[in-house]
Amino acid sequence: MKDYSVYFKKPSLKEARRRSREPSNINYDGLYVPDDMHGIGKGKKYYIRTYGCQGNQADGETISGILELLGYEKSDNFENSHIILLNTCAIRENAHNKVFGEVGALKKLKANNPEIVIGVCGCMAQEEGVVEKLLRTYPQVDLIFGTHNINRIPILLREALFSKEKVVEVLSIAGEVIENLPVARESKLKAWVNIMFGCDKFCTYCIVPFTRGKERSRLKEDIISEVEGLVKDGYQEVTLLGQNVNAYGQDLDTGYDFANLLEEVAKTGIPRIRFVTSHPWNFSDEMIRVIAEYDNIMPYIHLPIQSGDDDILAKMSRRYTVEEYKGLYYKLRNRVKNCSITTDIIVGFPGESEAQFENTLKLVKELDFDSAYTFIYSPREGTPASKMRDDVTHDDKKVRLQKLIKEVSASALKINKEYVGRTLKVLVEGTSKKNEKILSGYSEENKLVNFKGRKDDIGKIIKVKITGAKTWTLQGEQVDG
Ligand code: SAH
Ligand code: SF4
Ligand code: F3S
Repeated sequence: MKDYSVYFKKPSLKEARRRSREPSNINYDGLYVPDDMHGIGKGKKYYIRTYGCQGNQADGETISGILELLGYEKSDNFENSHIILLNTCAIRENAHNKVFGEVGALKKLKANNPEIVIGVCGCMAQEEGVVEKLLRTYPQVDLIFGTHNINRIPILLREALFSKEKVVEVLSIAGEVIENLPVARESKLKAWVNIMFGCDKFCTYCIVPFTRGKERSRLKEDIISEVEGLVKDGYQEVTLLGQNVNAYGQDLDTGYDFANLLEEVAKTGIPRIRFVTSHPWNFSDEMIRVIAEYDNIMPYIHLPIQSGDDDILAKMSRRYTVEEYKGLYYKLRNRVKNCSITTDIIVGFPGESEAQFENTLKLVKELDFDSAYTFIYSPREGTPASKMRDDVTHDDKKVRLQKLIKEVSASALKINKEYVGRTLKVLVEGTSKKNEKILSGYSEENKLVNFKGRKDDIGKIIKVKITGAKTWTLQGEQVDG
């Protein structure tokens, strides 16, 4: 007999910090649909808004898969939906603010139609402060669940629909890898494939190890068979996902690592493979060999540096020095043909002096990143950095961010201009939002290319001659061959 009791269970960041040495259980039978929930959504709609990283996008597609299994149909707006879910991100304060704004705006909708179910899930639901605030000030929220119990949606939703009580179930400790959940993918061309969950790096500023739990790898057999299924379904591209994909397999203790996995995925014949995110710390030479050797592994690496100053990197617990990062960067540039490299940078970390920030600027000038995501440091409750004095003023942080964006844009434009005259392979995704006659897609190097071409080729990988370059996009014309 399946237990489908629902617990009123709130998260604890203190508990979430704990790591057990136990290997994770792989659960192939984690989805249970109570009898009275089969077809419950027939004729009804759901709306889901997902914030945050690719991992959260992938979760959003699983949540959609489960709701569609129950009979619900996806809607692209709040108004005519019976279930509204906000799949949230906790990475910075502004991510929080957006969600609280959104939940506030839903109050009227709920007042007009008390039958709808409003739910909050994702990383913010893993934070005790958030759950308390939602319970205290946002009575319109009916359902709160976290990142570790998505498989429980049919049971939690049942409770929310039938009991009319508030349903809160957030597990702080992630125990399992749950397989065989249905996925409703948004794209017919590009698919996310989780290879591992969680993060054990505990960079001092980061909330992710708390909201996503310990590092747990999927078994290679399960990953490969998912990719093989995607090949059969005509998918052109997979992105292998993990907070630090380099650490794949370490928790399984079988000696099979990310380089091995990447090579096996390449052999499935899927036309394009990407992966995010790689931590610079354990990027192995064997990984570089595999990336360089296989044509279907894309020459694009997202390699977050975070800061160009050794003392700040140490305070962030990033486990590498600027010299080590540079060594890896040049190795990649030399060994992987036409590789593009992007990064993440935080400005205004506690104690960051003007001179330390200048070190970051200097590094960006020297390295020529194809692009960089730049952020103002945001203290996250429960993290070690949140206990350090956040002593850079907000104005200084903004000025540093602007200086950095200027430098990053200059380097992006410089690199993009070097593409003019070259012919790139582009996966055609559709027509440009602004002009029906212009098609758009991404090159192997992950450059967004807008070009004149044949509409019939949407969904295919074709050749485009680059005729112009802007900071964040390239322009071109389709060529035959
Ligand atoms: N696992 C990835 C990062 C995921 S979070 C990695 O280690 O590379 C994405 C980015 O958000 C980080 O690289 C970092 O630059 C930024 N970030 C994380 N926590 C932050 C915080 N507290 N304030 C500002 N930016 C933050
Ligand atoms: Fe956060 Fe660091 Fe883990 Fe990335 S590696 S998710 S920045 S703790
Ligand atoms: Fe945000 Fe959670 Fe991803 S905090 S960045 S959605 S892992």
